[in-house]
Amino acid sequence: MPYDGQPLAFGGDYNPEQWPEEVWEEDVRLMREAGVTLVSLGVFAWARTEPRPGEYDFGWLDRVLGLLHGAGIGVALATPTVVPPAWFYRAHPEALPVTREGVRLAFGSRGAICHSDPHYRAAAQAITARLGERYGRHPAVVLWHVHNEYGAPVMSCYCATCERAFRNWLMDRYGTLGALNHAWGTAFWGQQYGDWDEIGVPAATPTVANPAQQLDFRRFADAQARAGFRAERDVLHRLSPGVPVTTNFMAAPSQCDTADYWAWAKEVDVVTNDHYLITDGRRTQVNLALAADLTRSLAGGAPWLLLEHSTSAVNWQPHNPAKEPGQMARNSLSHVARGSEGAMFFQWRQSRFGAEKFHSAMLPHGGTGARVWREVVELGARIGELADLRDTRTRADVAMLWSWESWWAQRLEWKPSAALDARERLDAFYEALYDRHLTVDFFPPSAAGDLDPARYPLLVVPQLYAAPASLSAALERYVSRGGTLLVSFFSGIVDEHDAVHPGPHPGALRDVLGLTVEEFDPLLPGERITVTTPRGETYEADLWSEHVVPGDGCETVAVFAGGRTAGRPALTRRALGEGAAWYLATRLTGDALAAVVDLALADAGVTPADLPRDVELVVREGESGTYRFAVNHTGGEVKVTLPDGRQAAVATGAVEVFREPR
Ligand code: GAL
Repeated sequence: MPYDGQPLAFGGDYNPEQWPEEVWEEDVRLMREAGVTLVSLGVFAWARTEPRPGEYDFGWLDRVLGLLHGAGIGVALATPTVVPPAWFYRAHPEALPVTREGVRLAFGSRGAICHSDPHYRAAAQAITARLGERYGRHPAVVLWHVHNEYGAPVMSCYCATCERAFRNWLMDRYGTLGALNHAWGTAFWGQQYGDWDEIGVPAATPTVANPAQQLDFRRFADAQARAGFRAERDVLHRLSPGVPVTTNFMAAPSQCDTADYWAWAKEVDVVTNDHYLITDGRRTQVNLALAADLTRSLAGGAPWLLLEHSTSAVNWQPHNPAKEPGQMARNSLSHVARGSEGAMFFQWRQSRFGAEKFHSAMLPHGGTGARVWREVVELGARIGELADLRDTRTRADVAMLWSWESWWAQRLEWKPSAALDARERLDAFYEALYDRHLTVDFFPPSAAGDLDPARYPLLVVPQLYAAPASLSAALERYVSRGGTLLVSFFSGIVDEHDAVHPGPHPGALRDVLGLTVEEFDPLLPGERITVTTPRGETYEADLWSEHVVPGDGCETVAVFAGGRTAGRPALTRRALGEGAAWYLATRLTGDALAAVVDLALADAGVTPADLPRDVELVVREGESGTYRFAVNHTGGEVKVTLPDGRQAAVATGAVEVFREPR
């Protein structure tokens, strides 16, 4: 793990280039007061560091690094390659990205990058090399922070350079035009290609563009950005041996599907993530827990770091409420409970100008008299006290499969229902498990065959539209050895090219589930359907129904009670070996979904902790002992029962960490 021997990270993005030098000394003094141990420096500072082509000004960075180091504060030094300077674009306007509609975006914001542009690539490598040469062995530099949130705000560029690069990428992937035509199903709508140069990027088309082409273009765009990351990382590995290199992910916003983070996670030395609360009426702590669990899973269970969150309000939503007193600490410590090696913020000092001046910071416009500052100082002390848990890891209870590639495919146009939303199903199943106080480890579909049922008695597959044909056999291995599998509708339908698997649906799952789906029958908006169990329970479902035909050994647990699918199975269970495979053929939400999850949990032998809703109980364990985090989001005091039988109180809004030495 990086920065071994260091305390937990606490700090934020530090942008001293926005402030006169007199302020820097005060910054560092206040950082010490707040217990800051790490800052991300220089994320947007290319123009300051290289004001004219090839002319560098490192003096200011030398001084800032010196000040920070003198105060014992570590630095995650950024390569500023998310914002090339104005002079760069003047010389290379073709490095500005082009939208699907053919609009070339302008300079004057950030992230205006065509990842295929050779001038951009060369310039990014050059500034990275200069920084690596100068600071690669600087004692303050404990982490390299490459770029910023690749893909935000632009991942795919539709320019001529990208078109040529896309063709090369396709040649590597398919070898022959015949293979490409086959994979893309170009026989449909007469799209056959007879020459590589006929192939374009999926720019704006009169109606739906070839789905396989669109999917490959997403893969290509993601791979181009990753190649850019790798190039910078390799320069830093050479010039700064032993210092880990990362780039900050955005693993969990509900609408943000930019990158395939399973692929990115393999490239970084340490996984880092940014997380902001989205105020869309849902409980923000659930998305936070999901983000943290997913990030830990990207790290393969190893420690990771929350590189950005907010002390209070963000400023990029239509309405941006402040965090309530205590909420910042609750958020930070939930991330730590779920494996983060600290809690970092955007940003240290709230800006006076620019697009983010109303975004909260550690040191707000109100200065050290403000509530946020007082809470920051308290949190710094609290995180300082938790230094010993650096050798511990979070223990998960159950597992889920998640795939960004499948989500990309599911989001393409012209599905049986426009209301299908794999991410909504992920959130819904996660929430049901969260409400049972369970911690989730996520896996890509390729890992399904290796899952150990003893470690993960329950595996949930929320909506895995695209999956390889081999998935069924992999899951049969998991189930027959004692695992309980719970699969939700519209899973296992297509392959990696968005082509339907041969035979009845769901081709990649029908064997393990022991059923076939004859026909989809989605519901209209507002239409609802009743599902009943033999024991007389009834649930209201919406969005989806289908004609399930159970095979031998597949038992019907609940049926559709009315409508076009009346009498057909809505919930099935197939016993297989020592385990069971469940299938839910409709959309249940809230308590109804929780009831189905409870059936699967009982089948799996998982007994959730007896605690009120909105209390998190998360365990980190390791050499230094076991740390039990109890996070109380409720409006009253709650009691948690510790392993020795003791009852411990957790005040409203508080986080208690109960430590048991080894
Ligand atoms: C992040 C970004 C930061 C800042 C922050 C505001 O996505 O990396 O630079 O813009 O959002 O919430």
